Amino acid sequence: MKKSILGVATVVAASTLLLAGCSNGGSGSGSSANSSGGTTNAAAKRACVILPDTESSPRWESGDRPALEKSLTAGGFTADIQNAHNSTTQYATIASAQLSKGCGVMLLVDLNGAGAQVLTKAKSQGVPVIAYDRPIAGADYYVSFDNTKVGELEGQLIVDGLKAEKKDPKTAKVVYMGGDPTDGNAKFFHDGAVSVMSKAGIKPAFEPKGTWDATKSGTEFAQAYTALHGNIDAVWVANDANAAAVINVLNKYNKTVPVSGQDASIPGLQNILLGKQTGTVYKPYQLEADQASKLAIALLKGQKPSAPSSVNGVPFFAETPILVKADNVEKVVQDGNATASAICTGAVAKACAKYGVK
Ligand code: GAL
Repeated sequence: MKKSILGVATVVAASTLLLAGCSNGGSGSGSSANSSGGTTNAAAKRACVILPDTESSPRWESGDRPALEKSLTAGGFTADIQNAHNSTTQYATIASAQLSKGCGVMLLVDLNGAGAQVLTKAKSQGVPVIAYDRPIAGADYYVSFDNTKVGELEGQLIVDGLKAEKKDPKTAKVVYMGGDPTDGNAKFFHDGAVSVMSKAGIKPAFEPKGTWDATKSGTEFAQAYTALHGNIDAVWVANDANAAAVINVLNKYNKTVPVSGQDASIPGLQNILLGKQTGTVYKPYQLEADQASKLAIALLKGQKPSAPSSVNGVPFFAETPILVKADNVEKVVQDGNATASAICTGAVAKACAKYGVK
């Protein structure tokens, strides 16, 4: 039986929003506005969302889009969810069109800094902005996971993986493959992982600048492999898409070493079951979408809920990430965020049977 992660609170809020109709929203500087600056009920009920791309991670289209659609609709919004396809120009064009049609609230996943310009425009029209998953300076809220904890879990995968292979972390050759430095989360992942790995005595043997372009990540790891003459004991990788590219290179040399990841994507879960990836950090999209939707509803009612913490002055709601290894891949399936039919293909089927993925 698949359990629903979506909190009941969002559904309850739906009736509240619909009953309350449209009231002054935003952070006091007005509310939803259409292009003429007027406030309309229809605009107030539009939640305008911009997702960054389809390449850096399958999560945006296969996870966040349906989760946001469900939670925002349950919250009484019309969800206008669009994808910038890794183009900052497209990001700005989408935002202009959405704001012209009117938005009661904007949920932005930053792309190479494009979110900041949209934030300024939205604020000038009195539209509140929630930085969704990735931080944007000056947003009304930042809703994400505890991304430092994400990094710590990834770092622990590497420390435990070396221990299991009886490798001394102080002398092990570990390659660090971080995320795109224009993504504020990438630093949190990096600093969390390094805090755990350095405590164990691990130092980077090779560390490219970092990217969310998996093809580029694969090329940079191939360069690391050559530079280190194949003498690599583990690879800290910030997400599953890049981990798959790293594993493709290792497969060419018939080499398997501890590799970390993030997003519990289908390829990531398959690599874990095949013993090619040590684990992934699972972030149930519904938790993020549900929290963002609840905040959107409150903002539209002119409320400004306080947050448990803040990041650079932006109120921050951090969900708790979950470590997934072969023996709890089933959790992702039970949550409805993956299916056994998608995971257990070809050679993976045998591992699914062994680890009870069904
Ligand atoms: C991060 C996000 C991760 C990862 C990465 C690549 O900001 O939090 O889940 O997928 O982007 O898109």
